[in-house]
Amino acid sequence: MGASRFAAIVLPTLLSTTGCSGVQSALDPAGENASRLSDLLWIMAIGAAAIWLAVVGLAIYAGRADPRPHDRRLGRRLIVFGGAAFPVVTLTILLAYGLWLMPDLRAAGDGLRITVTGEQFWWRVQYFPVGADRPIESANEIRLPAGERVEFVLKSRDVIHAFWIPALGGKIDMIPGRTNRLVLEAEEPGIYRGACTEFCGLSHALMAFFVVVMPPEEFSRWLGHEAADAVAADSRGREVFLANGCGACHRIRGTKADGRIGPDLTHFGSRHSLGAGILEQSPHNIARWVAETERIKPGVRMPAFDMLGESDYLALAAYLEALR
Ligand code: CUA
Repeated sequence: MGASRFAAIVLPTLLSTTGCSGVQSALDPAGENASRLSDLLWIMAIGAAAIWLAVVGLAIYAGRADPRPHDRRLGRRLIVFGGAAFPVVTLTILLAYGLWLMPDLRAAGDGLRITVTGEQFWWRVQYFPVGADRPIESANEIRLPAGERVEFVLKSRDVIHAFWIPALGGKIDMIPGRTNRLVLEAEEPGIYRGACTEFCGLSHALMAFFVVVMPPEEFSRWLGHEAADAVAADSRGREVFLANGCGACHRIRGTKADGRIGPDLTHFGSRHSLGAGILEQSPHNIARWVAETERIKPGVRMPAFDMLGESDYLALAAYLEALR
């Protein structure tokens, strides 16, 4: 391979690895489990690269070697050591290292538990702090205290989804009729992104969420606030919301809206995204979402409310955005 061809192939590869940093990358770990998985990946990758180089080296040697018969003893030794002993030892070490990691990754703490239920195409999120008898319900965004082990209880109501926050740790399927568990510990406060990683229907690729990791005291304050009723005062937007039947599917605690089919909107305005991770939170996008739901997220169960007047959209968006 000429130098220029080498540069053309290898350089973009190296440069593209800089794209592996960021809010949704398993190669940029921000959690205990993710760091261990990332170490495991690198060790496996380096092991695989070493084996590959050895095999390719042998192949090149075989191609160029003197074609006359080799010494039989040397040949047999190569087969026994290179073909049997070396792979058995290497693979056993890698397997043992992988298995040794597992119990630690699964050990739950005795703190916060969060139930996340996959829906088409959004996430129902319920916080169970220690000693709580009722969950604190939210949707499409998960907040976590930094430095604490949190147990995720993962379910699905309709089809198989999969729950993955690459920067924080491994993923796991959400299967109807079954409960899976995942323990994660976020190390650094920050905002990360998670996604559904199992094809679940038309808008599978539009089923994401943000994860906000906060210092523990700040998280407790936030959770206390999240448990409380909605804060927005009476307004025209609230009337539009209730008059158009939005409350049949959505709940806003502290108002008559008590639907359980769709996302709980009690503190909707404080979330970083809407439509489950696909639109930035803003009054303009809220109005768009309400009017063009199906166009933004094909297959969504929420019907588009395209019959409202301009001022109704604005009032509704302002009301929802104020639900912090
Ligand atoms: Cu939910 Cu893919």
